[in-house]
Amino acid sequence: MHPERRTHFLVWVAAVLCTIITTCVIIAGVVTFIGYLVIHPRIPDVSVVGASLDTFRFDSAGVLVIQSTIVMRAHNGNKKAHARFYNWHFIFSLDEMDIAYLQIADPFDVRKNSSVDFNYVAQSTPVILDPETEDWVDGSLKRDQIAFNLKGSTRARWRVGLLGSVKFTCNLDCQLRFHRNGTYIPSRCTSQAK
Ligand SMILES: *[C@@H]1O[C@H](CO)[C@@H](O)[C@H](O)[C@H]1NC(C)=O
Ligand SMILES: *[C@@H]1O[C@H](CO)[C@@H](O)[C@H](O)[C@H]1NC(C)=O
Repeated sequence: MHPERRTHFLVWVAAVLCTIITTCVIIAGVVTFIGYLVIHPRIPDVSVVGASLDTFRFDSAGVLVIQSTIVMRAHNGNKKAHARFYNWHFIFSLDEMDIAYLQIADPFDVRKNSSVDFNYVAQSTPVILDPETEDWVDGSLKRDQIAFNLKGSTRARWRVGLLGSVKFTCNLDCQLRFHRNGTYIPSRCTSQAK
């Protein structure tokens, strides 16, 4: 047995492994960075470009019926690569009460420098509100401003020649506000990609 030599050997192996890993990470970083510079990309994003509150009926028994139309846009600002969107999954809710899931099951492509719009009709099943939510809805109606939440994410990916693909997550967390008469109060609702 040569315990000292053994130790030296392991340290040596560890050092070599570390060097290889570090070099790989640096090369990957440089390649990705150059890729970005060459493509000069605009990151894919998702936004709400329009909406209306078509039905908002609330009767004295505390039963609420909601129907809303939401227009969502998947945008690919990249002038050189198609974008593929997948895992599209958003939740439309009112005061923590989920009203509709806005989902697209299959991946879809958005051409270079273009966008695709989706019209969602989000409909709630009639729900009996608990007193707290009822108060909240009452208050909203009095203020003439009903605020919904739209929250969720989609994944997007570019296929970039030799580099393979670049992936993003587009997160949305917005308030969609409406007047009592159903008119949308426009506000910025665009994803920040990561
Ligand atoms: C990208 O789209 C914008 C507006 O839709 C247009 O003005 C521009 O010319 C397009 N660029 C290319 C390279 O297609
Ligand atoms: C709805 O109400 C708002 C403010 O009360 C008003 O600005 C808007 O024009 C109305 N829309 C319609 C379609 O009546």
